[in-house]
Amino acid sequence: MCKKIGNHNRILKMSVVLVVHGGAWAIPDELAPASVDGVKAAARHGSSVLKSGRSALDAVEAAVRALEDNTVFNAGHGATLNIDGEVELDAIIMDGRTLASGAVSCVKNIANPVSLARAVMEKTSHVMLAGIGANQFAESIGVNTVPTDKLVTEYEKKKWEEHKKYIAGVMEAFNTKWSHDTVGAVAVDCAGNVACATSTGGIRNKMVGRVGDSPLIGCGGYADNSSGAVSCTGHGESILKVTLARLILSHVEQGRSVADASQLSLQHMGDRVQGAGGAIVVSPSGQWAATFTTERMAWAAAEDDVLWFGLNPKERLKEKLSQ
Ligand code: GLY
Repeated sequence: MCKKIGNHNRILKMSVVLVVHGGAWAIPDELAPASVDGVKAAARHGSSVLKSGRSALDAVEAAVRALEDNTVFNAGHGATLNIDGEVELDAIIMDGRTLASGAVSCVKNIANPVSLARAVMEKTSHVMLAGIGANQFAESIGVNTVPTDKLVTEYEKKKWEEHKKYIAGVMEAFNTKWSHDTVGAVAVDCAGNVACATSTGGIRNKMVGRVGDSPLIGCGGYADNSSGAVSCTGHGESILKVTLARLILSHVEQGRSVADASQLSLQHMGDRVQGAGGAIVVSPSGQWAATFTTERMAWAAAEDDVLWFGLNPKERLKEKLSQ
């Protein structure tokens, strides 16, 4: 909580809020405890950045880096493999103050694509760099590369081999045990500024060069101080078709709560293109929601001194943030 002086010298209490997700999919029981622990740790980390007085943008980057570094999630370390057994990563970051945004897609050998996306935003006149161009830019600004082997887990190698025997990756229905999706964060800081960040390895066994929703502005994420910030997760091809992040914020702009806006938009994606997924949203006044239409989504929200978290539909558990 922070305090601002409003009209007539009234003290307004503003909540600083940070929400993270670790991907909406049918998370198997074997990954459930580590997924919940991972989102809780990332929310605590991002919240400590916010509480130290830094911006929502700094906080979402820090939270997503923590999720990218955690091998239980499909982003950075732990990312899924494409059809050639390679890691191709996508990420976006967006600043609600100015609508500045940076993204990378199909980038290789980068442990924290969210920070490379931020560098695209801050050090170039572009919004997105793809493939070899993104890697060349990373080299030009001195970002360390990591061998693919360092990003790939034994779990992913095993799942990739099993999956190859069944069906071609991106054609399958999303809500199955084969998907393994995306991380993200949204935040509002003391000044009422919002930001979002999303990062992913995409879909297991995807075609080489396939780009999903995550790095595309208005699809995998959007942030605007006039309405809020969103990070999406789920079947990329479906999210792209309904521009899910902007769809949610357009409902907020029409006066709906962030929870209703998320529910309506995900419902629309299910009805219109039979896609499942999830979203986290925060408004400039500190309203927040974590919503999904898949079997599960690991999420956590740091608000005042409470850490909310969940995995299953309608689950909303809480514990003290400062433990
Ligand atoms: N939602 C991540 C992807 O489909 O690539």
